[in-house]
Amino acid sequence: MITREHCAALDAADTLAHCRARFDLPADTIYLDGNSLGAMPANVPARIERALKQEWAHGLIRSWNDADWYPAPQRTGNKIARLIGAGLDEVIVADSTSVNLFKVLVAATRMRPGRNVILAERTNFPTDVYIASSVAEMTGCELRCVDPDDIVAAIDDTVAIVSLTHVNYKTGKRYDMEAVTRQAHEAGALIVWDLCHSAGAMPVSLNRSGADFAVGCGYKYLNGGPGAPAFVFVASRHIEAVRQPLTGWHGHSKPFDLTHDYAPHPGIDRMLTGTAPQLGVIALESALEAFDGVDLDVLRDKSVALGNVFIELTDQELKGLGCMLASPRDAEQRGSQVSLGHAQGYAIMQALIARNVIGDFRAPDILRFGFAPLYVRYVDIWDTIAQLKDIISTDAWNTEEFKARKSVT
Ligand SMILES: Cc1ncc(COP(=O)(O)O)c(C=O)c1O
Repeated sequence: MITREHCAALDAADTLAHCRARFDLPADTIYLDGNSLGAMPANVPARIERALKQEWAHGLIRSWNDADWYPAPQRTGNKIARLIGAGLDEVIVADSTSVNLFKVLVAATRMRPGRNVILAERTNFPTDVYIASSVAEMTGCELRCVDPDDIVAAIDDTVAIVSLTHVNYKTGKRYDMEAVTRQAHEAGALIVWDLCHSAGAMPVSLNRSGADFAVGCGYKYLNGGPGAPAFVFVASRHIEAVRQPLTGWHGHSKPFDLTHDYAPHPGIDRMLTGTAPQLGVIALESALEAFDGVDLDVLRDKSVALGNVFIELTDQELKGLGCMLASPRDAEQRGSQVSLGHAQGYAIMQALIARNVIGDFRAPDILRFGFAPLYVRYVDIWDTIAQLKDIISTDAWNTEEFKARKSVT
């Protein structure tokens, strides 16, 4: 039997508890949506204010050199590298995840001439499937989408690229990156990992797994802010062979020579396209300081423990209330979120949010709860379950206000 006192004791023993003060979170709010938009690190506003008032207002265009704006995408990529098991100069910040996925899928397909299948997961986040579909059409490939459990069996010698998301956005189910990467390589395919729901939530081992390419976003567990730029990883062994399709001037070896012909940068910079969204890069770079000194194995242990407590409390408190566990019970197979299915999921989530307990909803019936281990407390889990129990058992969700769909769910 888990009690609130037990959760408070877990918080008291939590060696990451001090990290919560690195974020500016409203005191009356429980935030379990860092898997959608990370909380704001408290150091970011001062850094942005400096970028605006000093570097832009006074430095003007000189700041590209004098305030070191120009190398910020590389610098920020190098900070992300530690979090995803990549080497220095294998990661760069640019564009959105969707755009980076497009660049990487085209580049990877070009590296496997003679093969014509892009293998993807049917239940992946829609943008991944949409982009893969467009790349397949452009490159004369077939996009083959299968269920997650059928991926490994579907990798054969026609497959050029396996494109997967490490942690599924809806269920939180996690692939064994090392095993699937090995299977892809044994069949002669390349693999692309989308790390949107893993970067910053757990240690990721891209190089130890032998991954070829990866992409991921800056605004979820990396806390870079709404619409933060994304990142892209290319294993250093591939970089010379990579020809990405969006050949903008920032990917050129000498952008300011302004030559007529495109010559790709010899390193990871070739994944760039145009001018960086500089304020977004600065926000992301400073947000990443929240991870300074954080041991990623400890981060993962806490994420697993938060998820386990959530699941145990669901069993204990929500029995008979129509909630179905939609995430793996086994933590080994789980990312940093737990999803519950409920027929009235949308209205229940709106009722929760009205009580300042913030998760989100994914159609048709999934309530998602994300556990960002840097700032989520064990008592938050207890309090969330208590509110859920009250809302469902009293039908507090059953109002026109809570049932009315907003554009962002
Ligand atoms: C797995 C996955 N990939 C990509 C995205 C979004 O990509 P973008 O940054 O291009 O909007 C999301 C957003 O939630 C996601 O969950």
